[in-house]
Amino acid sequence: MIAPKHGSVMLKEVLADLNAQPDGIYADATYGRGGYTRALLDAVKCTVYAIDRDQEAVDSAKALLAAYRGRLTVLHGRFGDMLGLLRDCGIQHVNGIMLDLGVSSPQIDQPERGFSFRADGPLDMRMGLSGLSAADVVNTADEAELIDIIRNLGEERFARRIARAIVAARSDSPITRTNALAKIVRGAVPRAKDGLDPATRTFMALRLHVNDELGELDRALEAAEQLLTTGGRLVVVSFHSLEDRRVKRFLQQRSDDSAGTSRHVPLPETRPAPSFRLLRRRSLTPTPEEIDRNPRARSARLRAAERTGNPAWPPNSERIAA
Ligand SMILES: C[S@@+](CC[C@H](N)C(=O)[O-])C[C@H]1O[C@@H](n2cnc3c(N)ncnc32)[C@H](O)[C@@H]1O
Repeated sequence: MIAPKHGSVMLKEVLADLNAQPDGIYADATYGRGGYTRALLDAVKCTVYAIDRDQEAVDSAKALLAAYRGRLTVLHGRFGDMLGLLRDCGIQHVNGIMLDLGVSSPQIDQPERGFSFRADGPLDMRMGLSGLSAADVVNTADEAELIDIIRNLGEERFARRIARAIVAARSDSPITRTNALAKIVRGAVPRAKDGLDPATRTFMALRLHVNDELGELDRALEAAEQLLTTGGRLVVVSFHSLEDRRVKRFLQQRSDDSAGTSRHVPLPETRPAPSFRLLRRRSLTPTPEEIDRNPRARSARLRAAERTGNPAWPPNSERIAA
């Protein structure tokens, strides 16, 4: 057994909701440093398929792969492609799926990954190191697109001012460092009363955009619906209200929990039968003790649901109904 680390958020609650059974097959779709995977393998004699889009996370799994030989497979890829990744391994169905969204502590803590405005580094933010970096977006998107990204993904009311300041600054020289961007944002908006660094929302927005995190989440939820066996559990921990809202809406619609459906949206007459049953209506949050121990847990929300025996809904049902 390898000693568990304390960094994994709501680990006890995640494992309780997953309700893993001996000989079951589970997917940890956000391996990170393997906190959930390791705890699960220690708790129950099951098999785990772990996924991460970050090659560094996959490379960090060597010790675990050796310690749990034959019970752990670690796959490099995006959880939005989970269906294909698992099917390539001959896995058609799983008994449970865990998603712990966002970035890992090692990603935030390495300035060279460019996620943090607290330490200077290249303006990168790509979890998978492919595609457009944050610097590419900041230096090439037009002002209207920057406003959209910062407003919609950062829920930032000063998006217009920030976008204008970015466009002005980059006309002198490209913005390539996290410190440079943070300084531009701080100079563009009034100081927040709550003490939140004014760069927080803009950095969050760029990260979500660069990694298409909401699109990934939508694809992962639909893949989970296809992959889970009857009675299988989906457990999702999110840190951002936009993500949590999507998980909530998806599960409410799939579970026929009409309390979550807008009165103004007529329900289709031929609504499919519920594919999930909510374990609880409200999200779970970390205990005050966990937040004391690990302040990064403070915005975590856990939602969990159990797969029913009904067929998966047609793709995009929830976006059509929303
Ligand atoms: C919060 S960490 C997970 C920590 C993990 N539960 C643990 O206990 O160590 C999130 C991880 O998910 C990965 N990730 C984020 N989005 C992903 C995606 N779309 N596909 C695959 N991995 C993703 C990140 O690279 C990061 O390593």
